[in-house]
Amino acid sequence: MRIGILTGGGDAPGLNAAIRAVARRAFQLGHHVSGVQNGWAGCLEDGLIREMTAQDVRGILPLGGTILGTSRTNPLKIKDGVTTAMRTLRHSGIDALVAIGGDDTLSVAAAMHEAGFATVGVPKTIDNDLSVTDFCIGFDTAVGVVTDALDRLHTTASAHHRVMVVEVLGRDTGWVALMGGIAGGADLILIPEFPLTLKEVVAHLYRRRGDGKLFSIIVVAEGVSIPGVEAESREGDADAFGHVRLAKRGVGDLLASSVEHETGFETRVTVLGHLQRGGSPSPSDRIWATRLGACAADLIMAGKSGVIPIRRDGGVQVVALSDVIAETRRVPQDLYELSRIFS
Ligand code: F6P
Repeated sequence: MRIGILTGGGDAPGLNAAIRAVARRAFQLGHHVSGVQNGWAGCLEDGLIREMTAQDVRGILPLGGTILGTSRTNPLKIKDGVTTAMRTLRHSGIDALVAIGGDDTLSVAAAMHEAGFATVGVPKTIDNDLSVTDFCIGFDTAVGVVTDALDRLHTTASAHHRVMVVEVLGRDTGWVALMGGIAGGADLILIPEFPLTLKEVVAHLYRRRGDGKLFSIIVVAEGVSIPGVEAESREGDADAFGHVRLAKRGVGDLLASSVEHETGFETRVTVLGHLQRGGSPSPSDRIWATRLGACAADLIMAGKSGVIPIRRDGGVQVVALSDVIAETRRVPQDLYELSRIFS
């Protein structure tokens, strides 16, 4: 059997660990592997699928990014996109596909399965917002970057008695902001699930000063809406999956200016941006990408399709692709309230 591997959507640390696991498990059992380059674009254009050997996946475990490249190309938005993708894959001798990605990539994977092409997913997104699974490749590393940044910002905030606003990634949800903020001891965390107004932020900062706390660290998710701070007008055009570039809203920058204007407290902003997606994966991302990648290969070789291995209750479970993309998993109230203990 020949297995195709594809990585789609935003890159995330741990993708290479997953590619390696799929390929090595397939090689172990005597199967062939082809790499599809640049996500779904590689299924729509000629010349982007190539044979992979054991040599190709040697030494890639600790590497960030993806050796296959990625894109936000969406075959569902292209006339006959899924049919073309299936034809390209079959033309390259590929019998079945492992698609590693988030909700966008996996929604195409589900459509491929529906259309009759054997496809299995692997969950990846630093946003951590897929349903059902307790793990998405890249999230743990991203939280580590935010934590490290907050540790560093604490010392300089304290030295200058400043307010530090830290903008982090997270398209629709506040997982990176909340978990990074809790791990890094943020004083206030603003996420889409539990919005605060500018007035509430300002009142919070005055309260801290009143308590003798001369600096504050505010973590803000890039997609948050803060009544009193107009970020929406800066949004750019949407991509093929309908997402605008949230970094363009500059919500961190706008919040910092508004806070300084309202309070007179010296305020600085740090936008962590793609630093959160780069670099070497954490041990947890490596281990789980490896476990889920190897399981995805086993599923494909067993003739399964339309399914995805996930982490749940401490182990690997297999669920329908449609389950993980059914809805966006949001930060629950109890976790958010945990962060408010430290406000
Ligand atoms: O989907 C993951 C993600 O990193 C989001 O957190 C962020 O909004 C988006 O991708 C950024 O996309 P791009 O790298 O295309 O600018």
